[in-house]
Amino acid sequence: MSRETSLFSGRPSELIGQQIAGYRIEQEIGRGGMAVVYRARDLRLERTVALKLLAPELARNDTFRRRFTHESRAAAAIDHPHIVPIFEAGETDGVLYIAMRFVAGSDLRHLLDREGPLPSATALRVAAQVASALDAAHEHGLVHRDVKPGNILVSRGTDSDHPEHVYLTDFGLTKKSLSLTGFTTVGQFVGTLDYVAPEQISGRPVDARCDVYGFACVVYEVLAGHPPFRRDDDMALLWAHQYDDPPPLTESRPDVAPQADPVFAKALAKSPDDRYPSCLDFVAALRAATKGGGPAPGRGATRVTRQPPERRPKPPPRWAEPVFVERE
Ligand SMILES: Nc1ncnc2c1ncn2[C@@H]1O[C@H](COP(=O)(O)OP(=O)(O)OP(=O)(O)O)[C@@H](O)[C@H]1O
Ligand SMILES: [Mg+2]
Repeated sequence: MSRETSLFSGRPSELIGQQIAGYRIEQEIGRGGMAVVYRARDLRLERTVALKLLAPELARNDTFRRRFTHESRAAAAIDHPHIVPIFEAGETDGVLYIAMRFVAGSDLRHLLDREGPLPSATALRVAAQVASALDAAHEHGLVHRDVKPGNILVSRGTDSDHPEHVYLTDFGLTKKSLSLTGFTTVGQFVGTLDYVAPEQISGRPVDARCDVYGFACVVYEVLAGHPPFRRDDDMALLWAHQYDDPPPLTESRPDVAPQADPVFAKALAKSPDDRYPSCLDFVAALRAATKGGGPAPGRGATRVTRQPPERRPKPPPRWAEPVFVERE
């Protein structure tokens, strides 16, 4: 068995208790297609971190390696409340690793799978935080390229006005862009294609606006309970991103004001030039469109009748909204 196999083995329990580059592995948090993330102890600073070990094959891919070094440096240079701080990125025994802040809570993928679509007020709060992180990254010249619910971490917020604190993670760590431009070999994991922008698919140069598209797909899913395009196979899905109009959000979510539909149509435009110039512009438009909430007369399932303030039932505490779940 080679050393790298022992570091990145299929059996995570083998690594528990082991020391890697100054970190003692404590517990597996989760795994994606190209990495395993552990809760670990930084032995130098005596603190808990999340340690991400990337699949060894990625260390052998020169394109990925270059991007890994460049983007983890760039991401580490951004000091933003909604971007997971990176403590260290390096290589040990042929395995690339990243040590970052351990975020207690859940990721948005897990949350949506568990809770389904979120109330629109919650969705907007979450969206605004992610948007501020993406716009900050773009101002640093960094394009995320892999905005998706699994890369959005949701932890407990500071108070009832900020019930959740959301972090964006995994800058430039996508294999998707490599594979879509022909770098990976057949059979390798590509990842979800639910959030991929048309220009990423066709191999055109990508800029911040590809993240506007991916982000809009995520916000659509947070509200609708499913991403804008659902197809039986990957080719059909790629085709849909490039040529099909997304179904109006209000088809799945009739309680949202119909003014939200053209906002999504613009954010999900096929040509980057036709989209919102920034993620916060998109969120501002969505907030304005949904202001006052509720469907147009005659639309939607529930009709909200206004009551005088004293007779209005007390709203449930914000924590009653299904937004924060502890990691199991
Ligand atoms: N800093 C962190 N703190 C706590 N948990 C984290 C942290 N970073 C990632 N995770 C968790 O680790 C798990 C695996 O993350 P990973 O990035 O490897 O996979 P993914 O993003 O779901 O999929 P993909 O391989 O397509 O990127 C996720 O469930 C995520 O919630
Ligand atoms: Mg990830």
